[in-house]
Amino acid sequence: MPEQSSTLHVSNEALVIMGARFHLVWLRDNCPCQICRDAATTQKLFDITATDLAPRMRSHALLEGALCIVWEEEPLHESYYELAWLQQHIYDPPAEATVEPLELWQASTWRATPLTARLSSDAAWREDVYRYGVSLLTGLDQTAYEALLHELGPLQPTEFGQITPLRARPDANDIGETGLPLDPHTDYTVYMHFPPTLNLLHCLRNDSDGGVSVLVDGFAVAEHLRVHDRPAFDLLVRTPLPFHQVYHRWRYHHLRHRPMIELDERGAVCGVHVGQVHTRNWSLPFEQMPAFYAAYASFLRLLNDRAWQLHHRLQPGECFAFRNERVLHGRTGFSPQTGERHLQIAYVCWSYFTARDRYERAEQAEHCDIGDNLA
Ligand code: OGA
Ligand code: ZN
Ligand code: ZN
Repeated sequence: MPEQSSTLHVSNEALVIMGARFHLVWLRDNCPCQICRDAATTQKLFDITATDLAPRMRSHALLEGALCIVWEEEPLHESYYELAWLQQHIYDPPAEATVEPLELWQASTWRATPLTARLSSDAAWREDVYRYGVSLLTGLDQTAYEALLHELGPLQPTEFGQITPLRARPDANDIGETGLPLDPHTDYTVYMHFPPTLNLLHCLRNDSDGGVSVLVDGFAVAEHLRVHDRPAFDLLVRTPLPFHQVYHRWRYHHLRHRPMIELDERGAVCGVHVGQVHTRNWSLPFEQMPAFYAAYASFLRLLNDRAWQLHHRLQPGECFAFRNERVLHGRTGFSPQTGERHLQIAYVCWSYFTARDRYERAEQAEHCDIGDNLA
């Protein structure tokens, strides 16, 4: 228990403990007792908004590592806050937001140390996904691939089903189903409202000539643009473009308007949405059109520049797991006549990936209820 925990000062509005102020309304709102919070689900039962937002203390005391408050309510209500829990939830000053340890990369990053191929039993593959946005998994036959998918979370289906086969076919619905090259892009994020966010691109056979996978760290390229061409970056952040996908086979015309670079509340790049083949007929103010074309071209040219790309020819049993909204993927062209190329892709929501880790971290941490940790 921290030294200063014994000091306790109280005003009408707040209480100072361990050198930090806590509003009474905050304390009352967050009472962890089983009347206020359902023990099984951890969900809140008490509704502070149904009160006058001015809770009054009848008494307060420090008892065995906990702050005990009796609230002037009908009936009287007792709250116990463990000091370790209070320590973890200090908001005065505000806690630094936890920032994921991202490592931006470009082609040269992998020259000395290529991306490590990992077994799915090696937990480090998940670290790679957080850090680089991508991990290269190996040793996955069809059964192991499907087992991994189901362990990660519910699959996000598309028109193509739970797992999309990627192979050339004469009645192609998508350029993906031809041998044409595919420039680095994100899947579905440009034209759908709930696009997949974690992609698992798996190789069953790769015997055609060509068909090398191309990956690009979209966050790295966007940050590069921010530094070297700020006006272009700003235009891409604030200009929504229409993105279309028409599937005759299923009679769908997807359409979404969205900017290609997305920022989070701190101003950091948190999404890139790229689909050159899907966007057309832009409607922008006349004066802005040339500048926007220039910005668009600058970004696309960087993404298509070898200096930013990781090239890897997937071998049977290998799988790229990557964050769809960060790491763009594509492939070089291939000739279907020269041999069979059969890949497949499936999608899980990124939230399931992070939610499992958050749950397991809380399970392992001391003084941390599951459902209550901060990260
Ligand atoms: C796609 C795609 C990758 C590949 O069809 O969207 O990214 O290697 N395919 O065929
Ligand atoms: Zn309570
Ligand atoms: Zn794709």
